[in-house]
Amino acid sequence: MKIEKIVAGGYGLARENGKIYLVRGAYTGEDVEVSIEKDGKDVALCRVEKIKHASQKRQKPICEHFGMCGGCDWMDLDYETQLEYKKEIFVDQIKHVAKVDVTKPAIIKTSPYGYRNKAEFVIKDGKLGYNSKNSHNFVEIKRCHIISDKLNEMKGKVEKVDLKDFHHIVLREDGNKEMVIFVSQKKCETPEIDADEIISLVNRKHVVVSGEESVKKGKGFLIVKMDDIKYRLSAKAFFQISYEGAKILSQKVKEYAGSGKRLLDLYCGTGFFTLELSKNFEKLTGIEESSASISNANENAKSNGISNVEFFSSKVENFKFGTYDVIVADPPRAGIGKEIIQSIVQANPERFVYVSCDVTTFARDTHELEQKRYKIKDVTLVDLFPQTHHFEIVSLFERE
Ligand SMILES: C[S@@+](CC[C@H](N)C(=O)[O-])C[C@H]1O[C@@H](n2cnc3c(N)ncnc32)[C@H](O)[C@@H]1O
Repeated sequence: MKIEKIVAGGYGLARENGKIYLVRGAYTGEDVEVSIEKDGKDVALCRVEKIKHASQKRQKPICEHFGMCGGCDWMDLDYETQLEYKKEIFVDQIKHVAKVDVTKPAIIKTSPYGYRNKAEFVIKDGKLGYNSKNSHNFVEIKRCHIISDKLNEMKGKVEKVDLKDFHHIVLREDGNKEMVIFVSQKKCETPEIDADEIISLVNRKHVVVSGEESVKKGKGFLIVKMDDIKYRLSAKAFFQISYEGAKILSQKVKEYAGSGKRLLDLYCGTGFFTLELSKNFEKLTGIEESSASISNANENAKSNGISNVEFFSSKVENFKFGTYDVIVADPPRAGIGKEIIQSIVQANPERFVYVSCDVTTFARDTHELEQKRYKIKDVTLVDLFPQTHHFEIVSLFERE
């Protein structure tokens, strides 16, 4: 089977007798034998069994867990080619789903390894690991090459204590201090370990970072400094997983948002974009469903002496939109969807800045926005997730 191109989801696409085969682990130009994992009438999902002709762009992955662990699906691909493929995937989706012709956008790279400031480990028999791709098979991890050195060191410390009562361990760091989050199904004794912040969360596993929180050691938050603003980050609060990537994102969002009177920041997390943009607008409003993130956002505004922002803890779906010069949205993978696009269009902003981590929902939403007078004017990709097929999209739409 000949791989024609790389498509969304990181699959290699092949065609035979009018049917499409999406092949995990195969790259453009390769000739592969596959086994079918999920068969459909027009499309089959496959995985590689044998590579008959390999791409010159393959490289030896630096991680011994590659192929078993569900994390880095592109670690066997040279980094420059990863960047090139991400641009191709973007153009392909925009052309076929959004039905808009765009030129290949620029992609800004970040450090290819050691970039993650947060790691979520599963625990099995006292060992820390990740789940394998598309399954709950446990893969014990000795060293993870995409998390920071500090997180790998913390992992070593955590593995020395008795973990039998816990189902997950979440590690976070702010470049200076460390936070260890012990997650259990019921209340239990939290081990003493050498870390600045120790938090316990009690929950039923569905969403790992959720449930009843107690601070066992420290203040209950980390402090991340970006340019001249300090962000408070509690255990449950969202923050971009790469600090280097976060700086690039905020610069692009600032460039696209420009300045004006009123700005609305949808899915604002701990208020990152709202606060970064606070000097460029007279009044800014941030909306976010997580109340933990919203309390961090309010603390962040107060501690940085920023008084022209307001934050509301609400689902975007339930928020009553006013009128704004600029709207920014950075939703989770599910994207924005028709209903919220309708509210955005009614709010009539001059510019809409859409930050997305999922190219398929982004393309779907772009199609809808283009039908509703908002035309895509500029796009920059940011490689926030090296060694994986994921990337971040920062885009500017303007009202016609
Ligand atoms: C990708 S993060 C963006 C955070 C923020 N822009 C930042 O850079 O830190 C998406 C955020 O959307 C929030 N969220 C998810 N679904 C939501 C909804 N329906 N309404 C409001 N917020 C939501 C999540 O809690 C998360 O904080």
